[in-house]
Amino acid sequence: MCGIVGYIGGQQATPVILEGLKKLEYRGYDSAGIATLSEGESATRRSEGKLVNLENLLREQPLTGTIGIGHTRWATHGRPSEINAHPHKAGHVIVVHNGIIENYLQLKEQLKQSGHIFKSETDTEVIAHLVEEKLKTEANFQKASRQALTELRGAYAVCILNEKEPGTLIAAKLGSPMVVGLGSEEYFVASDIPAILAHTREMVFMEDGEMVVFSNGEANFSTIAGSELKKTPRHIDWSPLMAEKGGYRHFMLKEIHEQPRAVRDTIAGRLLESEGDVYLEDLPFSDRQLAAVKRIVIIACGTSWHAALVGKFYLEGYCRIPVEVDIASEFRYRNPVIDESTLAIVISQSGETADTLAALREAKTRGAINMAICNVVDSSIARESAGVIYTHAGPEIGVASTKAFVTQLTALYLFTIRLGRATCSIDAPSGQRMIAALKKVPAMLEETLNLNDSVEKIAKKYMNARDFLYLGRGKNFPIALEGALKLKEISYIHAEGYPAGEMKHGPIALIDEDVPVVVLVPKNSAFDKTLSNMEEVIARGGRVIALCSEGDTEVGTRAETIIEIPNLNEDLDPLLLSVPLQLLAYHISVLKGTDVDQPRNLAKSVTVE
Ligand code: AGP
Repeated sequence: MCGIVGYIGGQQATPVILEGLKKLEYRGYDSAGIATLSEGESATRRSEGKLVNLENLLREQPLTGTIGIGHTRWATHGRPSEINAHPHKAGHVIVVHNGIIENYLQLKEQLKQSGHIFKSETDTEVIAHLVEEKLKTEANFQKASRQALTELRGAYAVCILNEKEPGTLIAAKLGSPMVVGLGSEEYFVASDIPAILAHTREMVFMEDGEMVVFSNGEANFSTIAGSELKKTPRHIDWSPLMAEKGGYRHFMLKEIHEQPRAVRDTIAGRLLESEGDVYLEDLPFSDRQLAAVKRIVIIACGTSWHAALVGKFYLEGYCRIPVEVDIASEFRYRNPVIDESTLAIVISQSGETADTLAALREAKTRGAINMAICNVVDSSIARESAGVIYTHAGPEIGVASTKAFVTQLTALYLFTIRLGRATCSIDAPSGQRMIAALKKVPAMLEETLNLNDSVEKIAKKYMNARDFLYLGRGKNFPIALEGALKLKEISYIHAEGYPAGEMKHGPIALIDEDVPVVVLVPKNSAFDKTLSNMEEVIARGGRVIALCSEGDTEVGTRAETIIEIPNLNEDLDPLLLSVPLQLLAYHISVLKGTDVDQPRNLAKSVTVE
């Protein structure tokens, strides 16, 4: 789980690469490094910890050269340390790599027997030695690299330099993301679009098994096996500013505030109001195909899994088709029952989560009709799915997912309308009503964001608690799980989400005056039951923070603290309820001084198992 950046052109490579790495820090940040080539010699700077350490080192010991590669690391093989930081060098070959080389121990053994001496504990160093080894018998750098890459098992996005061929940069991909940016007489390679967006919007998305050789002002694409390829660039219209903090103290806060816009963009151009239907441009299924669906399986990880749990309520409730929700890392190994009448929906913000990608492949192998709900255009999951609903949240940089989540709920709701119309379980007037409600969401999210200051005060009151409980029923139970996950991720406070009715079967034993209990109790069909569960908590001395509907007269008389959300409806309340929970986690984290955007031990996109 790392980020790579490569540059070749007329500029000094180091600043280009460093800026690119900053945009990729969300992919991992335990160490970083850059290597450049100048006059046939390479120089490398690496440092443990965050990128700022490397930046300081480069200030003291600058690097020159117009060709270079850089890396920000999230350790898999070998502890976080300078010695394990990339780039890795063997002889004249220098490498950065994202992914895992599964046969590295075997290769390392063979290379050691041929006299190679290893300095790090990484799997990556094997790649550098292997290319160096191949160069002993094959002087052509390109050919030697192909030979080496063919022997690697596992996943990689790799950039390779050779001091003996100082005008060439080679990049290749198998299983890890890689995008190539085409500039004017210059080229960029990166793990993700924001790293190079400041320089070009013309991008080529590399597929598995592909390689690109940059030299003499040209980029030549081919398969790793050697067949030439013609790749068509895509114009990416994200502005670099969209990926910046936009004046907010943290990306997470900016992204929380972007939610009205994100939902607006996700529904834009998709509503067929008079027909009570929606148009999903990248979903190539006919009504007949959709009507043949007998069962739905939704598969995801983390926050995306919480969205899936809400989706089950939407799809079963309106379309009357059984829905199973699975965690991707479980699904892929449990021999799931899937056939041609099963619709597999994978949900992923990044579109690169290894477990979700593997689950998608598993479902496809078993013949499922498949689709993705995805934020990152042309990501692996989006590319490999038969259909996709893009969430249009824009780049999400904060490790804690916020705007991606509410747009995933939006996409699930849109798909429910589409499926319901295709299967005739939703008639046109009902579809129209659903659309009318959905259209209110952006404005209501804006209203909900006005809670920011009051939630900050609440955060001050409860920030020293050691444990939190989050309770909700029905569609709001996944929101309780999501609220607890947000708090855990960024404030490091232990938190658990529970179905409110399940409390009395055990967790109620945890309640005392030290445990704040966040109860989601908006006016809905489960209101009375949830209120009773809240009373059970209060009776045992629990301190309740209740999220209720605006104007509610009952909850406020019982709970210690209330947060009122605008009145919308039972289906869409989960989107509004998410906002104060995100803000609560955010402010507690800021007050505790933890790293909001890059919490410890986490990475934005989990591209390893
Ligand atoms: C959410 O705040 C997380 N950091 C994490 O749970 C995330 O949702 C999960 O890793 C799935 O990522 P994806 O949506 O990119 O597949």
